[in-house]
Amino acid sequence: MQRDLKSILDLSTVDVHKILNLTQTLKNKPLSKNKFLQGKSVGLVFEKPSNRTRVSFEVGVYHFGGKCIYLSPGEINLGVRESVADVAKTLSRYLDLIVARTFSQETIEELSVHADIPIINGLSDLYHPCQGLTDLFTIQEKFEDLANVNITYVGDGNNVTHSLLIAASKVGANVTVATPQGFEVNEEILQQVQKEAEKTGSVIKTTHDPKEAVTGADVVYTDTWISMGQEEEAKEKLAKFEGFRVNRSLCAHAKENFVFMHCLPAHRDQEVCKNTIDGEHSIVFDQAENRLHTQKAIMLFLLDN
Ligand code: CP
Ligand code: NVA
Repeated sequence: MQRDLKSILDLSTVDVHKILNLTQTLKNKPLSKNKFLQGKSVGLVFEKPSNRTRVSFEVGVYHFGGKCIYLSPGEINLGVRESVADVAKTLSRYLDLIVARTFSQETIEELSVHADIPIINGLSDLYHPCQGLTDLFTIQEKFEDLANVNITYVGDGNNVTHSLLIAASKVGANVTVATPQGFEVNEEILQQVQKEAEKTGSVIKTTHDPKEAVTGADVVYTDTWISMGQEEEAKEKLAKFEGFRVNRSLCAHAKENFVFMHCLPAHRDQEVCKNTIDGEHSIVFDQAENRLHTQKAIMLFLLDN
């Protein structure tokens, strides 16, 4: 029985499809299972700011009849005010589930080792599994057959890219990632993704040429060039990412009925032009809405025996 969601690598293909199906059920009937978390409490332990992740979990727990406690970065101060292990052991005495948003993935792993309750990774520097599963659901909603979808990610090889790659490789979807030199996806993760892809038939490619990557895409996806915690690198990065902006002329190489996706928050006229993110191909707010349904499905999958 799967207990934590530290990365989508923790899940089998069957698990991923189960979560996608549960998401659809909960999207159709948001208040079904409304007693599922009655008398239960969920802690959100966040080292970084959040809109979608925090609000979708809080509303999801409310729909399920539970209580959510948000612990802001200054509140718990993981590893500074007290050790990660002590936080995990203490919170396990009060709570039924922890959603953690951290800088390092090691903090997620450490919470998981020391907690007696499930840990959901609500974003680390390495992964964003709740986002990756939502993205898969959103793509399935638009294209139905995930096995024949071509997803192109243009931009920084980051946490969102990693989880998108892993999610797609679990279900046979194809992904091409175009990054500037020096900002490629993590090599070890790419190898794990390629191994999954061999089993499911996904075709995974990486390149430094955004035009080549977008050619024939069903989905064009981008994320911020400056992730949380990278603010000091902004000046240097911005210069290197010119040419990787998603705009109309780049998207002209995608299929006619392509969709544009972005996990948000977005920086208009940095990684994406206004006319693309606010244009007729954009599904970013369907994607944002689906965070709610997917978060609920993840909690149900992990906690409902
Ligand atoms: N996409 C996403 O995780 O958004 P937040 O950082 O606002 O939670
Ligand atoms: N890559 C971004 C995702 C935000 C949801 C970050 O880590 O800041």
